[in-house]
Amino acid sequence: MRCISNIAHVWNAPEEAAQRPNPVPRDTAAIERGQKLFEQFCANCHGKNGQGDGPLAAALNPRPVNLAERAGHHTDGDFAWKIANGRGVMPAFKNQLQENQIWDLTHYIQNLK
Ligand code: HEC
Repeated sequence: MRCISNIAHVWNAPEEAAQRPNPVPRDTAAIERGQKLFEQFCANCHGKNGQGDGPLAAALNPRPVNLAERAGHHTDGDFAWKIANGRGVMPAFKNQLQENQIWDLTHYIQNLK
């Protein structure tokens, strides 16, 4: 059976979470902390530069998102909620990462565009 789940593939955080302002200032240090975390926890799927081309990507359905394309199209709060809660093969990181680390990751992702 053909899986069509990638078509019309929409995932949005709840409005309240999406509107949350980022409590961590966006500066070079935050982006660099985010990059280190990204390489450690995310690059296997999303790829070293967030393009959705990590070593595990080909085996996953749906494919890991090209985050460089999404950068700037979602709020920090939206990304943070998705990273914390996960969906399907995208793991939930809220028990593994601290909240400020998740916000560091959003700075890194927004900077990919
Ligand atoms: C096991 C593979 C895997 C790992 C590890 C992983 N992701 Fe994902 N990620 C996915 C997949 C697959 C999706 C698409 C899930 C869906 O839409 O159902 C996704 C979706 C996302 C999205 C949502 C994009 C959007 O707007 O639709 C964000 C943000 C994200 N990942 C960030 C991260 C970050 C940051 C990390 C590391 C802390 C991470 N991911 C680790 C596989 C992974």
